[in-house]
Amino acid sequence: MTKTYGYFDDVRREYVITNPATPFPWINYLGNEDFFGLISNTAGGYDFYKDAKFRRITRYRYNSVPMDSVGRYFYINDGGTVWNPGWKPCKTPLDSYECRHSMNYTRITGSKNGVEASVLFFVPLQTWAEVQKVTLKNTTNAPKHLKLFSYTEWCLWNAATDGENFQRNLSTGEVEIETASLKEKCPYTAIYHKTEYKERRNHYAYYALTNIRADGYDTDRESFVGLYNELSEPQAVLDGKAADSLAHGWSPIASHYIDVELKAGESRDFIFVLGYAENAENEKFDPRPLANSQLLTSLGEKDHHIINKTHAHAIIDRFATVEAVDAAFAELCALWDELLSKFQVESTDERLNRMVNIWNQYQCMITFCFSRSASFFESGVGRGMGFRDSNQDLVGFVHQVPSRARQRIIDIASTQFPDGGCYHQYQPLTKRGNNDIGGGFNDDPMWLIFGTTAYIRETGDYSILDELVPWDNQPGSEVSLLEHLRISFNHVVENVGPHGLPLIGRADWNDCLNLNCFSNDPNESFQTTGNKNEGSKAESLMIAGLFVFCGRQYVELCRARGLEHEANRAGLHIEAMCQAVEKYGWDGAWYLRAYDYYGNKVGSNENEEGKIFIESQGWCAMARIGEEQGLPEKALDSAAELLDSEHGMVLNWPAYTTYHIELGEQSTYPAGYKENGGIFCHNNPWVIIAQALAGRGNDAWTLYKKIAPAWIENQDLHKVEPYVYCQMVAGKEAAKPGEGKNSWLTGTAAWNWLTVTQYILGIRPTYEGLEVNPCIPADLKEYKVTRKWRDAEYVITVKNPNGKQHADQPTVLPYEPGKHEYTITL
Ligand code: GLC
Ligand code: GLC
Repeated sequence: MTKTYGYFDDVRREYVITNPATPFPWINYLGNEDFFGLISNTAGGYDFYKDAKFRRITRYRYNSVPMDSVGRYFYINDGGTVWNPGWKPCKTPLDSYECRHSMNYTRITGSKNGVEASVLFFVPLQTWAEVQKVTLKNTTNAPKHLKLFSYTEWCLWNAATDGENFQRNLSTGEVEIETASLKEKCPYTAIYHKTEYKERRNHYAYYALTNIRADGYDTDRESFVGLYNELSEPQAVLDGKAADSLAHGWSPIASHYIDVELKAGESRDFIFVLGYAENAENEKFDPRPLANSQLLTSLGEKDHHIINKTHAHAIIDRFATVEAVDAAFAELCALWDELLSKFQVESTDERLNRMVNIWNQYQCMITFCFSRSASFFESGVGRGMGFRDSNQDLVGFVHQVPSRARQRIIDIASTQFPDGGCYHQYQPLTKRGNNDIGGGFNDDPMWLIFGTTAYIRETGDYSILDELVPWDNQPGSEVSLLEHLRISFNHVVENVGPHGLPLIGRADWNDCLNLNCFSNDPNESFQTTGNKNEGSKAESLMIAGLFVFCGRQYVELCRARGLEHEANRAGLHIEAMCQAVEKYGWDGAWYLRAYDYYGNKVGSNENEEGKIFIESQGWCAMARIGEEQGLPEKALDSAAELLDSEHGMVLNWPAYTTYHIELGEQSTYPAGYKENGGIFCHNNPWVIIAQALAGRGNDAWTLYKKIAPAWIENQDLHKVEPYVYCQMVAGKEAAKPGEGKNSWLTGTAAWNWLTVTQYILGIRPTYEGLEVNPCIPADLKEYKVTRKWRDAEYVITVKNPNGKQHADQPTVLPYEPGKHEYTITL
């Protein structure tokens, strides 16, 4: 028996963690629109507004000692025993502990010596603030006298410079405090973070205790914690009394101190709001002189730049009662009822239901919001929204809130270059392409077709094609989105190599297969050192498959719009690509992966290592290239034989054990990890879809289960969260096969959503109607799907009395508003 750290509570859509010392911090995300928080099962993590780099609100220390340092902490001093409801940072043994992660909220409950402390964390809808409702309950039959402290540490806005520019940072910090002692009528205590507010920033943050006044506060870290103390022994908490410190420079924090008397059996709620606000340039400052505003500020008398706090005050007022907080929480839960109701399955397999009805959909919302920017593996400073990543993510999300997916498509396309090339990433705050990473990843353009066609099939909204979208955000350069798609398609056509296969550029989907970036200098980036572009012959079979698969979607779209001529033109290029793959891209038993700079084969049986790669098997088999000769099926057989393992299919086999400068970053990873023989979960669904398209229901299901979190058995080995997909699980050649890493932000979420809903359960929106084309394990005898599609609702029961693995042919249910019930027997 392996040890478990928690369990699924499906009725409440929660994952319940019962032991705080999880094998890695198990986190959740708060907020789903503008204001976001990452929160671990011990309340570690941080908040930001839109952009984890440029608008970081609270500070975090990544990869720190101990792991998961800093968060929103509550300390309780009960007669000298100091503890936290979430166990950390004091780690005082608790009498009970539970953390419930669910759809954009987390509830952490701990108890000690007859006191139960429960904290609900969430971001109310359309609100730029995290609300924390703390409930303290005396479960004994004698009175209790407790001291409660809140704690959070401000980040000086730009998370990158916050972690490096100390000569400046340690002098700039400024705060304001509205406290009881100063403001007679002030029924709350609010601490404001205003570093750099007087000059170029139009935003401030605040942390308020809203439903009562605090008995003290701290805003200077050193005064609260003590210079040589740990967060597990803050001096103020040990002293049982705040220092009432006023920060100037160094590290500003926000802490409230409350003296709490609880009668026997009594329970009390304390509401905290951690928010962000922006002011228009001409409304930034409070016109009243400081003396009248009854405030404390870092600069004291000299401060004539007092924040105009209208926005913060409105939020503080709004959440001043438990009723208001509970109502906002109910709204959040109702939103999730609605989002999840768009696709629900009922089957006899509770793990399938759990993935489809709850956790896979939830993760798709999260990847849609964050792309690859901020997780416990992505620091929030390195990456923004990926061009390819975001196009894939939105496919998992488009059924939830189509209007947001629509806007995302426009935002992404706006960063494209006039020749169809793309910035690889853009910043969510500015929506501008990120120059540090640049472009030249030749798969990028095709993903725009992938995302846009998925959006239109879901919504029927062809009007998006007429939207005027700029190139590289340059005003005046706008052309229709349809034109962006045409240019995207052409980008591949115009960039083919000696075999008529797509040139790879800096890399294709596999960021680490850098066939034109030769680097022997450790100070260079593998991916952006594009020093071998001239005369390069490096071609990608992955892009070839992607081009054929998504190109056909483009053709289908053109036909649906009556653009026969363009459809025919595109069709000819697709046909030519298929021929090129059959002629130069087949290695005998599987599809090649690439040709390198010199024109040598990559992913061939002739190679000693890296004989076979998953990406080209997945994509070329999904595109069914060489169908007449049975190439897709042969490739799938080879993948099953050479790539598969207990935990899923590895990316390449055998993994590289030496550095191949001509392959780039890939061969720098130790064998079995990441793009070098790791189980890169993102690409397993490509194989699953290809299996489904080949009618192999049992195979598709077996592989689906291998990587789906609901089937994880050994939580210690898997290490990361057991309720979401992770990017990578260590492969069969790794030191510890089965160990997961890089959880949450991965295209795996969207791809598995697509796989299980459209290719296994087989419910797929098309331009004409809802296609039903199941490809299931023979022993799945029946299931029922409720699918809300456009303004219709379909209740579809699939029966499989004879144990088939697929339908003989797809059934297309016509699109008609209203509710419809169908039964389909295989
Ligand atoms: C990461 C990147 C993604 C890339 C993949 C493979 O997940 O976010 O863009 O395709 O790695 O390299
Ligand atoms: C690294 C990772 C890869 C990721 C890339 C993004 O190369 O291995 O997975 O896509 O960084 O920059």
